[in-house]
Amino acid sequence: MSDSFTAPGKIILFGEHAVVYGKPAIAIPVSGMRASAWSEPGEGKLTINALDLNEKIDLKNKTSQFSVLAQALLSRTKQNEPNLTINLTSKLPQGSGMGSSAATSTAVCKALSNYLGVDLEKNQISELVFDAEKIVHGTPSGIDNTVVAYESPVYFVKGKEPLTFDSGRTFYLVIGDTGIESSTKETVGNVRSLWEKEPNLMNGYFDEIGNVTEGGKQAIENGDKEAVGELMNKNHELLNKIGVGHQELEKLVDITLEAGALGAKLTGGGGGGNMVALAKNAEEQKEICEKITEAGYRAYQTTFGED
Ligand code: PMV
Repeated sequence: MSDSFTAPGKIILFGEHAVVYGKPAIAIPVSGMRASAWSEPGEGKLTINALDLNEKIDLKNKTSQFSVLAQALLSRTKQNEPNLTINLTSKLPQGSGMGSSAATSTAVCKALSNYLGVDLEKNQISELVFDAEKIVHGTPSGIDNTVVAYESPVYFVKGKEPLTFDSGRTFYLVIGDTGIESSTKETVGNVRSLWEKEPNLMNGYFDEIGNVTEGGKQAIENGDKEAVGELMNKNHELLNKIGVGHQELEKLVDITLEAGALGAKLTGGGGGGNMVALAKNAEEQKEICEKITEAGYRAYQTTFGED
């Protein structure tokens, strides 16, 4: 059995959906929750053994993100199909905006490239995973594969070199899971329908979200937690206006704000899935987390930046 290759989950702190329309977005890795892949001798062909799904995927399967990824990697490196099984497992909930598909593809990409003896740069991994993401998401902006492959906070504009950045302060986040699986492909499609009907209105919202993201980057770099929290609230309001809210997300946002969060918003595709709240410090992070679990939802704690 080979070493295990892993990739983190992610959350989007600012700018989801607007990023599809060319606005900037900010995403951070969730390093404590990861997908892992490791290889072992195969059964005559290349198989991705998705243990959590109890599914074995081979190269004949053209509709799987993993076969698309493996095929692209083999073509790029001009290698034949190896006799290899790659086992895959993930701690990330699916369909919840935590980047489960990008993390699993990235872990498989690392395990397979290691076996093939090719050393891929982060941007090359990100590109390969992006192509695989299209199977899952339709027309992804590319933010998920970028933050997961770089494993650093990123400021992302579609089609441009991602900017990795950091803060001189620790930001304490709590992620709350509505438990409602939601398809990003669907919410992105719904936003597109609204945009086709009301382009001026929707472009106005996307501009506002873009401004919030710019402000968010400044506030993170300045270590200004209060400002980051306020901008998260503003971003949440705008996400509701573009129609990707959900009453369960509202409940979680209210619970966290009542528990003292500096700000809270849905994260990712919306329509269910996860929300994220910013706590003042580690103690309050724990309290907010407890309030969410007391209300019957799953919650995770994560941080970024360093004091
Ligand atoms: O649901 P997630 O976490 O994969 O986030 C999707 C982010 C969107 O902006 C809604 C779509 C995209 O491709 O950027």
